[in-house]
Amino acid sequence: ELRDYDVHPVTGFLPSEPLPLQRLPGTFYEAWELVLDDLQRLLLAGRLRERVRQLPLLDVSHLKTLREWQRAYLVLSFLGQGYIWGKNEAAEEKVPKCIAIPWLQVCDKLDVKPIISYAGVELYNFKLLDPTAPWDLSNLSILHTFSGGMDEAWFFLVSIAIEPLALLLFLQLSRHCTQLKEALTSIAEVTEKLKGILVRMYEKTDAHVFFNRVRPYMNGWENSEDLPNGVLYEGVLASKNGVPNGIKTDLGVYGKYAGGSAGQSTLIHVLDAALDIVHAPMRGSDPTKVINFIHEMRNYMPGPHRKFVYAISDSYSIRDFVENLAPSARTTELVSLFNKCVEGMKAFRNIHIQMVSVYIVSQANKRKDVGNAGIPAEVQTERLQNGLMARGTGGTNLIPFLKQSRDETSAAQIQQ
Ligand code: HEM
Ligand code: ALA
Repeated sequence: ELRDYDVHPVTGFLPSEPLPLQRLPGTFYEAWELVLDDLQRLLLAGRLRERVRQLPLLDVSHLKTLREWQRAYLVLSFLGQGYIWGKNEAAEEKVPKCIAIPWLQVCDKLDVKPIISYAGVELYNFKLLDPTAPWDLSNLSILHTFSGGMDEAWFFLVSIAIEPLALLLFLQLSRHCTQLKEALTSIAEVTEKLKGILVRMYEKTDAHVFFNRVRPYMNGWENSEDLPNGVLYEGVLASKNGVPNGIKTDLGVYGKYAGGSAGQSTLIHVLDAALDIVHAPMRGSDPTKVINFIHEMRNYMPGPHRKFVYAISDSYSIRDFVENLAPSARTTELVSLFNKCVEGMKAFRNIHIQMVSVYIVSQANKRKDVGNAGIPAEVQTERLQNGLMARGTGGTNLIPFLKQSRDETSAAQIQQ
């Protein structure tokens, strides 16, 4: 039944058997693939937008398999995202028809949003150096990046490398009623491994490169100073997924969407659900709105994965199971073991907060201090000055949001 949710028992939310496609087959969609081949060259020359506008409007009905639809989503999201943010050019509000229309159609099919997401840069964006070797950081590699650099590839890879922990996790979900002690011990181990992989970010992703060259492309338009109305998808009049409060115009419809983050990783949501870590809404960087950002991120997961999170949160609460054990069975040891799992998630979130302070907050301050790294004032664009300092690519107010999420984690502890 994992299969019903497009989940693999061993690789979890990462596609395998077959692996993600590296190119759309045949020649029909070659025009899209050729632009992606030249993505960095076109961005650097300031000519991606011109090239994209020349693309023919292609009919998505030639996409056949699920992997083809996923590949099409990846290709269109890289082109769309590159088109909107350019390379330090002013943001472009309109996405032309030739990619907007197929982009929305592909999103409807996969039940995702017309913006880059964790699925686009992580789940569908990897290959194995050796198909027979383990799926870890020594064997995983990235198909596409915006910058063409290794720092960006590593940033994506670290998230991908956490996903195979699904194997260990799923096993525990299915046996916690019969072998509780073993299940809790293994979940605690999952959180240890999660932390161990996360800190490897420092090895090969430089903070300056990340802040200046990578994250601008991950940015969204939910709550954006650059794109206050969101993005206008030209030629799109309606879509299943989309554009809930979007302004409709004769040209098309506006949509506001959050940018990419590992907050869209289904694995983390499943861990939270199993341990009963509950996230509440909060006021974000837009003080007029209270949103539950973490729950909102479920809407960016591929449809079947989102349904999987709901299925798990409806049917498994290891916390309830431990709390409701008969007094004789509810030993101090079991409660401590459960709390160790919660502690593990909290420690993961603490390490992540520290990482955000290194990769975002310090970089933003540095830029303020040195006046845009010494770039003469007359050539600084407004985007260089403001870009992405105060909020995450998902639109949150960074540290306060992440601290709330961490504190909510501790609340799942069971009193002895
Ligand atoms: C959320 C930054 C790497 C997991 C966020 C948010 C930011 C952020 C700013 C808040 C949402 C937003 O507004 O965008 C970073 C930075 C990273 C990094 C700078 C590395 C350079 C990772 C990795 C993982 C991860 C590798 C997973 C293994 C999460 C999760 C959330 C999140 C789960 C949702 C909040 C929560 O569940 O507590 N990240 N992130 N991040 N990130 Fe990261
Ligand atoms: N969500 C991450 C950021 O804000 C990628 O930079």
